[in-house]
Amino acid sequence: MNILVTGGAGYIGSHTIIELYKAGHTAVVVDNLSNSNPESLRRVARITGSEVPFFKVDIRDREGLDRVMGQFKFDACIHFAGLKAVGESVAKPLEYYENNIAGTLVLVQALRDHGCRNIIFSSSATVYGNPEIIPITEQCPKGVCTNPYGWTKSMLEQVLTDMQKADPEWNVVLLRYFNPIGAHESGTIGENPNGIPNNLMPYVTQVAVGKRAELGVFGNDYDTPDGTGVRDYIHVVDLARGHVKALQAIERKCGLGLYNLGTGHGYSVLDVVRAFEKVNGVKVPYSIKPRRPGDIATCYSDPSKAERELDWKAEFGIEEMCRDSWNWQKNNPDGYPEN
Ligand code: NAD
Ligand code: UFG
Repeated sequence: MNILVTGGAGYIGSHTIIELYKAGHTAVVVDNLSNSNPESLRRVARITGSEVPFFKVDIRDREGLDRVMGQFKFDACIHFAGLKAVGESVAKPLEYYENNIAGTLVLVQALRDHGCRNIIFSSSATVYGNPEIIPITEQCPKGVCTNPYGWTKSMLEQVLTDMQKADPEWNVVLLRYFNPIGAHESGTIGENPNGIPNNLMPYVTQVAVGKRAELGVFGNDYDTPDGTGVRDYIHVVDLARGHVKALQAIERKCGLGLYNLGTGHGYSVLDVVRAFEKVNGVKVPYSIKPRRPGDIATCYSDPSKAERELDWKAEFGIEEMCRDSWNWQKNNPDGYPEN
């Protein structure tokens, strides 16, 4: 299939393109580069041996999308483009609603008008809010999000669900990611956050490489085995492969699909720090800090629906995730070079 990948220069998108080519698909990327560097795509091309056509286009730009969709015929779209910084979304809600929601509306109308009614959407475990059931199944009701970013995911799931109901020609797969970490085994592509990392693993790797003095552990008084927050970390390559499986569901005309993509295992912050130190033989100094507002104690998936229906299962464990995150960071201490 020929796939339009929005946000393909970013962290999950770049890894997914590699898995698409490995599975015999081709891709075209649109990305406005607001949170990425085109160097990621040059490195992807080195890994796949194929140049991936890239267009610096904002998904809110209908004319820009029309130009790309006029030039290529797409069988499906994998829609990664979006702003994703939780804290920033609290400070700039309108920018988040505009970029993520308005952008997606422009994108799906353009797809429909160009005859492509197949889309995979990057959703998030954040839509469960403080989950009612652990491990979290897809039956678990959506919850109250604690920030505008989370609401954009929750609302867009509804928009795409309503769209598919109204026009069953659409195949829509909503993928709820848990916590992606890790990097491609080559160590040439990975997560490249701007400024101070918000998420745990990039912070850990920047401490390990000496860019930051110590990790702040946000709270050790949660109701968890060691008091620190528990999450379902998933290797980004496993996550990427989940999209290839979701494309097969689209080929089978799945209609509406909704899947958790996680490993089903919960690790605490201190579990991650210990695993990282052990696998990589480096020290990660830390100190306990107050809880971070909006954080929940425990969040991990029941991924069995994706295994049953998509024939997808995460294969990498926490040690491989820590090894590959470090391999990327130590080979690229400053991320991708600025152009
Ligand atoms: P990322 O920031 O690395 O990639 C997103 C890409 O989208 C970037 O390259 C950015 O430049 C681009 N983009 C943003 N707005 C755009 C616009 N209006 N037009 C065109 N391009 C635009 O993030 P990621 O970690 O690769 O995440 C990909 C998707 O997965 C996002 O939708 C994110 O919300 C979702 N997600 C990520 C996580 C995570 O922890 N990384 C968890 C759950 C869901
Ligand atoms: N943490 C620290 N110190 C840090 C960063 C994080 O102790 O410097 C802790 C957090 O308190 C939490 C755990 O590490 O217990 C994981 O935090 P992350 O920020 O890495 O991830 P979250 O689970 O908070 O959120 C992430 C994404 C969201 C997404 C969610 C579910 O940031 O966008 O996973 O997919 F919605």
